[in-house]
Amino acid sequence: MDIKVIGVVGAGQMGSGIAQVAAAAGFSVILNDIKDEFVEKGFSAIEKSLARLVKKEKITEKEQQEILSRIEGSTALEDMVRADFVVEAIVENEAVKREVFGQLDNYCKEHVILSSNTSSISITKIAAATRRPEKVIGMHFMNPVPLMKLVEIIKGLATNGETFEITKGLAEKMGKVPVPANDFPGFISNRILMPMINEAIYALFEGVGSVEDIDQVMRLGMNHPMGPLALADLIGLDTCLAILEVLHSGLGDDKYRPCPLLRKYVDAGWLGRKTGQGFYNYS
Ligand code: CAA
Ligand code: NAD
Repeated sequence: MDIKVIGVVGAGQMGSGIAQVAAAAGFSVILNDIKDEFVEKGFSAIEKSLARLVKKEKITEKEQQEILSRIEGSTALEDMVRADFVVEAIVENEAVKREVFGQLDNYCKEHVILSSNTSSISITKIAAATRRPEKVIGMHFMNPVPLMKLVEIIKGLATNGETFEITKGLAEKMGKVPVPANDFPGFISNRILMPMINEAIYALFEGVGSVEDIDQVMRLGMNHPMGPLALADLIGLDTCLAILEVLHSGLGDDKYRPCPLLRKYVDAGWLGRKTGQGFYNYS
């Protein structure tokens, strides 16, 4: 089945980046969210990102316009009936994802693959919410999507080989490097990254160092492009907490217990870059 139209559900940080990369690869994109204002926010993130690429002469202004013209906004999930492939990038919540996959199963044509950009949640569980588990797969992009090469591909227990091959090929068409991971909490990326970020937050919580010093140690000492606390702010502290909860409950080991300070920040609505306040202030 020829893939021409890619449906992206969720126009947040990741969904907008995935829509941009898919459109840049020549696909038509339907970018869906629950409210017009969230779709518009997604479009402005894409416009800002493309403007940076034009400034860096990575793309021309003509290409910028062509990419934008390939993306259509939507607030009706029924629009996914026109999609040949779907990537879900909504909130990191298993119940909400299962609900949306159940709806996508009803709206999308039978042959359409339904993928999730989930950071940590069981693909097997998400797939079980549909009548097409063999066509459900994890297609895990990294933030910021236009710059990061990796796409982690995760098969659920029922995902078949054809679904894997099509998804792998699509990631490559988008200029990404697909790497397989098995369907266990956090896959490879967040099984390793999130405990590191959690330990950085514990180091702050226990007074081992300041926000700036913790990040500077990892930037200058380990050559990380950004410190773990700045990275947590980029990812979103709500998403970091959600991933740690999945690791903690899924693997049953207390070493994954989220730091109380992280929970406090999320309780306060301090979610990082996306709300203007996290470990750093972005206003
Ligand atoms: N679109 C287009 N261009 C962008 C961009 C975007 N969204 N973000 C940054 N850029 C460009 C900038 O214009 C800049 O270009 P020049 O250097 O040519 O001027 C370049 O990329 C670098 O950006 P910045 O100067 O803003 O800052 P930086 O040098 O620190 O790079 C970064 C930013 C690429 C994010 C870098 O800090 C980095 O790689 N950080 C680590 C990111 C990371 O680890 N991502 C994975 C997180 S885990 C995950 O995603 C999975 C999960 O489930 C949570
Ligand atoms: P975000 O909070 O920036 O965006 C989530 C978007 O989903 C919001 O715009 C919200 O309105 C929308 N949404 C919620 N319920 C919806 C529904 N029923 N239908 C349509 N849209 C709905 O979150 P994000 O950072 O883009 O993360 C999205 C997904 O990608 C999560 O599963 C997350 O774990 C994963 N992920 C995040 C990162 C990261 O660094 N932030 C990296 C890789 C993967």
